[in-house]
Amino acid sequence: MSRTKVQDALQMTEYGKQIVVKGWVRTRRGNKNVGFIALNDGSTIKNLQIVVDFAKIPEESIKAVTTGACIAAEGQLVKSEGKGQTVEVLANKIEVYGTADPESYPLQKKGHSMEYLREIAHLRPRTNTFGAVLRLRHNMAYAIHTYFHEHGFYYFHTPIITGSDCEGAGQMFSVTTQDLSKIKFDENGKVDYSDDFFGKPTSLTVSGQLEGELGATALGAIYTFGPTFRAENSNTPRHLAEFWMIEPEIAFMDLTELMDLEEDFVKYCVRWALDHCYDDLEFLNNMIDNSLIERLKGVVNTQFKRLPYTEGVKILEEAVKKGRKFEFPVYWGCDLASEHERYLVEEYFKCPVIMTDYPKEIKAFYMKQNTDGKTVQGTDVLFPQIGEIIGGSVREESYDKLMTRIEELHIPMKDMWWYLDTRRYGSCPHAGFGLGFERLMLFVTGMQNIRDVIPFPRTPKTAEF
Ligand code: 4AD
Ligand code: MG
Repeated sequence: MSRTKVQDALQMTEYGKQIVVKGWVRTRRGNKNVGFIALNDGSTIKNLQIVVDFAKIPEESIKAVTTGACIAAEGQLVKSEGKGQTVEVLANKIEVYGTADPESYPLQKKGHSMEYLREIAHLRPRTNTFGAVLRLRHNMAYAIHTYFHEHGFYYFHTPIITGSDCEGAGQMFSVTTQDLSKIKFDENGKVDYSDDFFGKPTSLTVSGQLEGELGATALGAIYTFGPTFRAENSNTPRHLAEFWMIEPEIAFMDLTELMDLEEDFVKYCVRWALDHCYDDLEFLNNMIDNSLIERLKGVVNTQFKRLPYTEGVKILEEAVKKGRKFEFPVYWGCDLASEHERYLVEEYFKCPVIMTDYPKEIKAFYMKQNTDGKTVQGTDVLFPQIGEIIGGSVREESYDKLMTRIEELHIPMKDMWWYLDTRRYGSCPHAGFGLGFERLMLFVTGMQNIRDVIPFPRTPKTAEF
């Protein structure tokens, strides 16, 4: 008999039908006449109840059916008398695939702390919370591909190993096949890479944007969706050393259209979660964050506030005058701290904010310069609870202006001739942004720490599993 998934079994109304279900035992309870097994196979947050009549299946024969064990249960689908489920299975056969010694099985029935679960990240996908998070993660990835496909974007694969650090978005991890105990140095005392795999220094990418621009200026509209690496020593609940980023890049797009796209795209993702993952959201709303669903609906239904940086700083300075305390000072030209961003989003506007037109000193060299000579057309999308979820900009398409900025900043461009060629040949106005996938996941799950929205997090001093 072929296996029925728990999710499908729970929808069935063909009472009396024989089915086989397979999965992991969440709990087992009962009395001396009958046993109740809560079975979960990952297809849904919900468990299927297996009823074992000890007159038919001796209790002794299912001693190994304990929390964590993997079993197959064959039996009759019946309407449930009990509370909390519509159907259950009256077992006539139970096969144990794998036992889980109750003495040592790390996942007990009682709730565990997120910190403890991080130490057993190899098993935490079997908990209700991580099951919900991981199903949502899949759904968000699917929503993202669907959105771009439906809007005429091509999925463009940018390299993970890169020979340039021009983006300057963060510290990089080196990639080498050199024997680190026998590093060769040249006559100037610099590492000699001539015998290294690529014959030059290489690293893991901090962003696919620069290559993405090559795609956009040929295909019109592309997006990347891949792993991204930053070697900063940031031990915050919002930073990973390895995260996934989505970077659309679009030819002929201006600042207003860019903001429209950012807003439409994140709303689409959040709406997708509400439309397709309600069981998991409901679980997380009950267990993790009581205002989750309300917050998601809020974002879908409100217009984001569009706010030039200069106005944002004025609002913050006013707040300080009225006695609002911040840890970090606010003044025109400062890089806003997350407390400032959250004040604007959570207290002042009470809605997501798209901040624009930042001082050029605090943004990347490639952002389009405004005619005021001071600001650039960068946009950050700021979300409640999260802070920055998206960073993007219109790109400077003028070769001369871009080169002037590169020289001002002393950016080493010798490996970047290919990027500059976009501005030398058929240069076009274009724009794009980067969404941190795990920041989106934090928002849609209500989880508090970014380490808990990716299966196996990479952070300073942590690369287990
Ligand atoms: O603002 P960032 O650094 O922008 C870029 O990398 C641009 N190249 C994007 C573009 O225009 N194509 O990063 C973009 C987003 C941030 O807004 C944040 O959501 C996420 O990536 N992010 C991180 N997420 C997790 N851990 C980290 N260490 C992150 N650094 C950035
Ligand atoms: Mg940023």
